[in-house]
Amino acid sequence: MAIAIALIVIVVGSVVFHLLSPWWLTPLASNWHQMDNTLTITLVITGVFFVVINLFVAYALLRFRHRPGAPRAAFQPDNKRLEHGLIVVTTVGIVLLLAPGLVVYADYVKPPSDALVLEVLGQQWQWRYRFAGADGKLGRSDARFVNGTNPFGLDPDDAAGADNVLIAGNEVHLPLGKPVKVLLRSHDVLHDFYAPPFRARMNMVPGQVTSFWFTPTAVGRFEVLCAQLCGVGHFNMRGYVVVEEPAAFQAWLGAQPTFAALRTAPAATADAGADPKTRGQGLAQSKGCIACHTIDGSAGVGPTWKGLFGKTETLADGSTIQIDDAALRRDIREPQARVVKGFPPVMPAVPLSDEELDALVAYIRAQGGAAR
Ligand code: CUA
Repeated sequence: MAIAIALIVIVVGSVVFHLLSPWWLTPLASNWHQMDNTLTITLVITGVFFVVINLFVAYALLRFRHRPGAPRAAFQPDNKRLEHGLIVVTTVGIVLLLAPGLVVYADYVKPPSDALVLEVLGQQWQWRYRFAGADGKLGRSDARFVNGTNPFGLDPDDAAGADNVLIAGNEVHLPLGKPVKVLLRSHDVLHDFYAPPFRARMNMVPGQVTSFWFTPTAVGRFEVLCAQLCGVGHFNMRGYVVVEEPAAFQAWLGAQPTFAALRTAPAATADAGADPKTRGQGLAQSKGCIACHTIDGSAGVGPTWKGLFGKTETLADGSTIQIDDAALRRDIREPQARVVKGFPPVMPAVPLSDEELDALVAYIRAQGGAAR
């Protein structure tokens, strides 16, 4: 009796909770309304079965509960006709549930021929993006070519790669209303590129290029999540897709560096004679610092560099330090030794030469602050 009542309360409570819950899908920002339809259909079917089965169990508990002198139930170990019937019904049911998904999936991996090509590169724990240049071709890439100044691993001998536009930060822009073919690569482990409002996602498999496509249908700044557990910094593997009018997108794209430009930049050639601040800027990009530290004051995974120099920071243990030259050097060399309050202890120790450290500190100092 008590269990029957509990089951009825659970069924009614679940349905009421679902109807009143504020946790539902964010507004759709792409063409993939089929994903939402799939979710709704699945929820309705499983919801109906959940309600019917639990109410039937509650009914059976009440109707057939033990009474003194009541007849005993007949034990029937198997029933061939019933089993065959169930096999047929469940087979047909599962085919009906899955077949429409295959049709949608076929469409999902077949982009329109005029789609803009965006390459997304995942690595622990940052995103990088690449666009083809004017010729529409992405240059060859290979893990052999990956190093501090060539994080995408582009083949320097492939002319098609020279005009490729490389986005080293974790934010990428896309034009509104244009189909985008997304090519996905990973440098280390499984990652998964996922921006929930687009409903589209795909695993990134080391050694493979996976792909899907979508058309952004709403202007906005959408958060990107990594949807595969990829290590201790997984929760921090966030990025943004900014969808804007095509003209604004073209202006943004035009301001981004090409592979050729980055290779001839002072930092890339490790020219010790170059201005340290300029070298530091290149290093901040090539070593991946800017994935976590912004220079415009906006929040990042780590503290922003804007106005950092000379600032007094509170550490995780409650003590305070003044950010001067020595403090910056120590914190870059030993990032886990002490951590600024409110930030996760996820900064990797990046190998830097003394000159590189000088240049990086000069660049951070140039971002302003109380002391110079
Ligand atoms: Cu990359 Cu989780």
